[in-house]
Amino acid sequence: MNKPIRNNTLLGASARAGLSTAQKTLEAKWFYDHAGSALFEEITFLPEYYPTRTETKILQDNIATISRLFPDGAALVELGSGASTKTRLLLDGVDQIGGYVPLDISGEFLLETATILAEDFPSIPVHPVVADFMEPMTFTPKTQDMPKVAFFPGSTLGNLESDAAVDLMARVSHWPNVKGFLLGVDLVKAVDRLIAAYDDAAGVTAAFNLNLLHRLNREAGATIDVSAFLHEARWNARTSRIEMHLVAQRATRFFVDGKEFSMRFGESIHTESSHKYTFERIEQMAERSGWTAKEVFVDECQDFAVVYLEPAI
Ligand code: TRP
Repeated sequence: MNKPIRNNTLLGASARAGLSTAQKTLEAKWFYDHAGSALFEEITFLPEYYPTRTETKILQDNIATISRLFPDGAALVELGSGASTKTRLLLDGVDQIGGYVPLDISGEFLLETATILAEDFPSIPVHPVVADFMEPMTFTPKTQDMPKVAFFPGSTLGNLESDAAVDLMARVSHWPNVKGFLLGVDLVKAVDRLIAAYDDAAGVTAAFNLNLLHRLNREAGATIDVSAFLHEARWNARTSRIEMHLVAQRATRFFVDGKEFSMRFGESIHTESSHKYTFERIEQMAERSGWTAKEVFVDECQDFAVVYLEPAI
């Protein structure tokens, strides 16, 4: 029997809209199908990709201090949990945690990791939620009243436009009984290191970016010649961010969601941004979204920051 084809109409419609604007874009949330989630995992182990190991070390080195900040019986609510590696550090080191609510858009990946975590931490109830964290959050009756600490590591906040980032932080500040927000953010640094982190020598980030096009072909019936595209990471100084693009190496035409698109040689599809922050900027964003920074933890090179925010009174 042939493999059944899937037709992801949401993906197709979103791509069609994004490719119809002057600067073509694809929404980054579509990176994370099963293949994409696995490739992203691989990125986190690359020598050039410093954020994951730096953030992990910051959490390890400061776990006792972090632990004292958590309220008793806290539900740890993780936005975009992926493989939940950093979560283990918290579940191990913070005795106050009385529940874990991983939230991820990749259902398959979420359920795999939630099952493993539930086995490894039998005393902590796990309540996985398959959801897009940009949508309004609904809690289950069991978790509704628990004191909550949001956990948003990996500088994923930096993948949002400034206004959207502040907006998300503000929405989290309105969760029922929210007490804290443990947020990982990447800091401004030398441009060559930033570029290398998003364009690694082994080509894993390139494969991750190009997987978006393969996914459109696989799931939305698109007819893109993926070999016409190359991955590129660019520093945008004005907006203080790394931008990921897929650049056409020759003129190319394809169909997506019933519409024909043509691209010129050198034209790009912008697929992701990763904003890099200063401490001032982080405090400003916190202030604008109803939070105050209670503690800031950094590594010795000041490459990355983990901040603990509390609702402003
Ligand atoms: N939050 C991660 C970051 O901005 C996501 C990420 C890392 C990423 N490498 C990427 C997203 C490559 C798209 C492409 O660092």
